[in-house]
Amino acid sequence: MASVNVHRVLITGTTSGVGRALLDRYAKSGVMVISVNRRRVAELESRYPSARFECVDVRSAEGVAELVRGLAAAGELPDVFILNAGINRVDNDEAFQLAPYREVIETNLYGVLNFVAPLTQLSAHPVERHVVAISSMVNYAGSPYGLGYTTSKRALTACFEAWSTMYAGTNLVFQQVMLGPVPTAIYTLAENLPAWMSSIKNAFSASPEGTAQAISRFALTRQKKLFYPLRALPLFRAVQLGQRLIPGFFQGRKMLDGKSRR
Ligand SMILES: NC(=O)c1ccc[n+]([C@@H]2O[C@H](COP(=O)([O-])OP(=O)(O)OC[C@H]3O[C@@H](n4cnc5c(N)ncnc54)[C@H](OP(=O)(O)O)[C@@H]3O)[C@@H](O)[C@H]2O)c1
Repeated sequence: MASVNVHRVLITGTTSGVGRALLDRYAKSGVMVISVNRRRVAELESRYPSARFECVDVRSAEGVAELVRGLAAAGELPDVFILNAGINRVDNDEAFQLAPYREVIETNLYGVLNFVAPLTQLSAHPVERHVVAISSMVNYAGSPYGLGYTTSKRALTACFEAWSTMYAGTNLVFQQVMLGPVPTAIYTLAENLPAWMSSIKNAFSASPEGTAQAISRFALTRQKKLFYPLRALPLFRAVQLGQRLIPGFFQGRKMLDGKSRR
């Protein structure tokens, strides 16, 4: 059931993948889009002349707070915030590497929190605002090589579960999308799957356009969670079971020097 009139939407990370499909969908339907990217892309700006492009790295708490405060002061706060920007990195293959782990957490977790913090500090306003996080089904089975990614999405889910309850009944609506596989740049990174597993995963994937459609419809509701595509959930559950039951389910099982495995 529709609960919000979407006149203006803010989307982070629209240079590719799901974010770009969202920009395309909203712009074509006549909604004013505020597109937040860490770099300018001339091709994107000329393709969507009705959209407004803001150059802000979501990892910058100051930059994001300034943007939100500026929109509020101008009376231009969006009805819907889709906090989509995200990255994946290999951080746990032969060694545990702190730098890529930290970069992923700063982007995927703080890149969302940086928006939520100033939004919750604005004075009460009668207009309903929806804050949509793009989490992931890696909450159920994460890649052990992209440990920062799994950590960031699980933390994001924990935050949004808490906020959707704490802010229930207010004009701030917290929603999250538990996204399954979508063939984008992020899709195969930090994974070391055998070919047969990749082809199974491909069969459970959704297109960026279908994902954008599902997210834009979900943002009209007050529902807390969307699993999309739902057909991918049993796959992630099965992998979760495999990881628990079968030692070495993933290649690259770690050994400590001089220790034999018990
Ligand atoms: N694809 C999947 O299978 C899948 C599954 C579950 C969840 N997700 C989530 O879906 C979201 C979208 O990912 P995608 O699959 O569409 O990947 P993508 O094609 O790699 O797009 C990621 C977007 O985030 C932007 N971005 C990265 N770091 C940023 C920063 N610091 N500040 C501002 N923008 C930044 C990228 O901009 P640049 O071009 O500048 O790098 C790009 O526009 C992510 O949160 C991802 O975790 C994806």
